[in-house]
Amino acid sequence: MNNKLENAINDQINFEIESAHIYLAMQSYISTLGLEGFENWMGVQYQEELFHAKTMIAYLNERGGRVNIRGFADPENEFKSLLDVFETSLAHELKVTARINNIMTIAHEVKDYAAISFFQWFVDEQVEEEDSFGKMIDKIKLVKDSGLYLLDKEAQVRVFTEPVVK
Ligand SMILES: [Fe+2]
Repeated sequence: MNNKLENAINDQINFEIESAHIYLAMQSYISTLGLEGFENWMGVQYQEELFHAKTMIAYLNERGGRVNIRGFADPENEFKSLLDVFETSLAHELKVTARINNIMTIAHEVKDYAAISFFQWFVDEQVEEEDSFGKMIDKIKLVKDSGLYLLDKEAQVRVFTEPVVK
C-alpha cells in the first residue's frame, strides 16, 4: 500500500480511538447531570468510535499495512451544559469528516480503488454522525429544561448494533 495512504489511515485509527476517549469523558460529565438516557446515548457513541478504529485496524492489516498505535492528549472533561457537550461533539465530527475526506483524496491520488471502496462507508457514516448530533442540538434547544426529561427517555433507547461495513 502507498506510504502516504498508510500514514493517513494510521492517523485516522488513532483519531478514532481518541474520539472514543473524548466521548467517554463526555459520558462521565453527563452522568453528573443525572441524565441517564444521554449517558447511555454517549456510551453508544463511544462504542461506535471503537468500532470504527477496530474496522480500520483490520483493514490496514488485511492490506499488508503496519498499524501504529500512539498516545494522545487528555480529553476535555469539563463542560458548561448538555448543549455544550453536543455542540463540542458536532465540531469534533466535522473534523472527522475532513479527515475521512482527506483519506479519500489521497486514495484517489494514488489510484487505490480498494481503499476508495472501503472508505466510502465512512464517508456515508459521517453524514449520519453529523446529522444525529445536529438533530440532538436542535432538540435540546427546542425542549429547554422542562422537556429534557422526555428527551432523556428518548436517548435511553439508543443501542449499539455493529454495522456491516463490507
Ligand atoms: Fe468515528
